[in-house]
Amino acid sequence: MTREREPAPPEGLARLNAMAARRLEGEPVMRILGEKEFYGLAFLLGPETLIPRPETEMLVRRGLEILEGRSAPKILDLGTGTGCIAISLLVENAAATAVAVDLAPEALATAQANADRHGVDKRLSLRRGSWFEPLKPHERFDLIVSNPPYIATPEIATLSREVREHDPLLALDGGPDGLAPYRTILADAAGWLTPDGAVLCEIGSSQGLAVKTLFFQAGLRDVVVHPDLAELDRVVEGHHI
Ligand SMILES: C[S@@+](CC[C@H](N)C(=O)[O-])C[C@H]1O[C@@H](n2cnc3c(N)ncnc32)[C@H](O)[C@@H]1O
Repeated sequence: MTREREPAPPEGLARLNAMAARRLEGEPVMRILGEKEFYGLAFLLGPETLIPRPETEMLVRRGLEILEGRSAPKILDLGTGTGCIAISLLVENAAATAVAVDLAPEALATAQANADRHGVDKRLSLRRGSWFEPLKPHERFDLIVSNPPYIATPEIATLSREVREHDPLLALDGGPDGLAPYRTILADAAGWLTPDGAVLCEIGSSQGLAVKTLFFQAGLRDVVVHPDLAELDRVVEGHHI
C-alpha cells in the first residue's frame, strides 16, 4: 500500500529535506545514500573512498579469468578504497586470499566494514601504506590489481562538481601527467609476482600507449590493452616473464 493520502511524518520529511539540500550542493546520490552497487554487491562508502565505477568491474572479470584453475591464488589490490575489487574477487573465488593496501586510514576502515559485510574478512589482510611498502619481503602474488589515481593534476579542476568536490583528492590525483602511480607501481610489480603471476591496471582512456610502454619496461610479457564497453582503452594486462 502506498499510503499516498497520509501526510509524511515530520522526521521523514526532515530527513528528505536534508538529503535534498545535500544533493543541491552537488553531492552525488550514492554518497547521500551511503552505498554503491559494484559487481552485484552493495559497498559502503566513506569520505575517503572513491565511489566504485562500473568500468572497474572489468578488473574483477578479467582477474577471475586469469585466476581460474589456480588452487589457492593470492591477490594484491593496490589502492583498495572501499575494497570493491579485492572483495568482489574473494566473493567470486572462494579459494583466494588477498592483501589490500591504501594510504588513507579511513578508506581501510570502510574496506574492513565491506569485507565483514560480504563475509570475506578472514581471507583479506588490509594494510596501510604506500603501494608495496606494507608488504613482507617473502610475499608473492598470482594477481596484482590496481585502479590507482590517474587524473593529471591540472585536469582535476575541469571535472564535474560531483567528482571534484566530493571524491577524495588522494583517489584522483595522478600527478602532473596522471601517470605517476603507474611509474611507481610498475617499477616494482614484477618482483612481487609468482612465476606465472599477472598485473592488471585500470587506466584513463588516453593512457593506453603510455601505460603499455611502462608494462613493457617493467619486463612484463603478453601486454594487452583492453577496451571497455564504450570502446575506450580501460585496462592494461601483463604477465610475468
Ligand atoms: C581511483 S581510487 C580506487 C579505489 C578502488 N580501488 C576503486 O576501484 O573504486 C585510488 C585509491 O588509491 C589510494 N592511494 C592513493 N595513493 C596511494 C598510495 N601512494 N599508496 C596506496 N594507496 C594509494 C587512494 O586512497 C584511493 O583509495
